[in-house]
Amino acid sequence: MAQRPLGVLIHGAGWVSGEHIKAFQHNPHTRVVAISSRRIESARRRAEEAGLQGIGLYDDLGRALRHDGVDIVSICTPQHLHCENVLQAAEAGKHLVIEKPIANSPQEMYAMRDAVRKAGVKTVVSFVLRWNPLFVTIKSLLADGALGKVYYVETDYQSHIASWWSGWEDARTKAKGVSALLVAGCHALDAARWFASTEREKAARVTEVFAWRGGWRKGGTREYNYYTGAWSDSAPPMEYDGLEVLMLKFDNGALGKVSTNYDSIMPYNFPIEIFGDKGTIKDNRLWSHMFPGQRGWVTIPTVLPDTAEVTHHPFQGQIDHFVDCILANRESFCNLEEAIHTHEVAFAAQQCYETGEPVHLSPPA
Ligand SMILES: NC(=O)c1ccc[n+]([C@@H]2O[C@H](COP(=O)([O-])OP(=O)(O)OC[C@H]3O[C@@H](n4cnc5c(N)ncnc54)[C@H](OP(=O)(O)O)[C@@H]3O)[C@@H](O)[C@H]2O)c1
Repeated sequence: MAQRPLGVLIHGAGWVSGEHIKAFQHNPHTRVVAISSRRIESARRRAEEAGLQGIGLYDDLGRALRHDGVDIVSICTPQHLHCENVLQAAEAGKHLVIEKPIANSPQEMYAMRDAVRKAGVKTVVSFVLRWNPLFVTIKSLLADGALGKVYYVETDYQSHIASWWSGWEDARTKAKGVSALLVAGCHALDAARWFASTEREKAARVTEVFAWRGGWRKGGTREYNYYTGAWSDSAPPMEYDGLEVLMLKFDNGALGKVSTNYDSIMPYNFPIEIFGDKGTIKDNRLWSHMFPGQRGWVTIPTVLPDTAEVTHHPFQGQIDHFVDCILANRESFCNLEEAIHTHEVAFAAQQCYETGEPVHLSPPA
């Protein structure tokens, strides 16, 4: 007899949730059975947009978790709520899609790890760029030896995040957003770990971090909307520095440099540079020992990570991968424990700002 599809509860009916819903709707093994949010109208709006009729709509996570047939919960609330949401859903025995950033402190993320271990549920964290076609191509080239041994990686998250984002009112504050690197620069940090390893489905671990912060925007009321080209002089201030620059040492000997730049005046950009002892990648351009006599860069026609627009992000790949993991009873290469390490580096950067000293990171507990 055919198994019933896995039932999905979407929690937090904002911008990104629409993409989670679409991805689950397109997966043949899942069905969205409920949506919950702070305001029931938001849950209803998302359901109507997606053409979902007769599903559960809730303004309370506890009641939503008791909805009949929920197997997976997608946590799409603002980051300061992720820990409490994950603890509650894990205790209810649900598999979890967790939006980045996973938590606002190391204590929160270790509590989440313990709850997930205890519940024995599967997790995937939305470092969704790991499914971007350029990322998939680069990872495959690295594994096939196109660059030889990787010794240096640079990745940068450059986006003037501002009031154009529905999540900005929370994320711009120190209390709820913590830092630029945590809110969104964590994508670049995760990318550096991913590309520093030539092993398939594996990211390198960071052993040492040193970081500076700076830029011009902190505390100011001037912001730029790169979608419309409009400036505002009365924006709510960003409470942390917009520029963070990290130097990294990886466990395989490679070095890295990662920056987050919310102060940049230009459209979103996500540059990638990877240097190996047999080749180099700059975004979608390749120079490799595999092309003897090469006289110019080989350009790979593919989808670049070149916009903040969530409709462009490869959530389908992430969700399909996660559903496969649940059905095959295997762990995702982007599960909570894996994402914790990326976040440990972001929190280590905070420590550097306080002490002016590099931070050595310990192996996983
Ligand atoms: N992986 C990626 O590339 C990516 C892209 C974008 C965002 N994100 C992440 O996704 C998360 C959500 O971002 P977003 O852009 O979707 O933000 P958003 O548009 O502000 O949506 C957040 C939703 O959470 C709901 N919410 C707020 N407080 C709540 C509470 N106490 N209980 C229940 N629901 C609550 C709000 O619901 P109401 O409407 O009901 O008030 C809002 O609709 C953030 O962590 C963000 O960093 C990730």
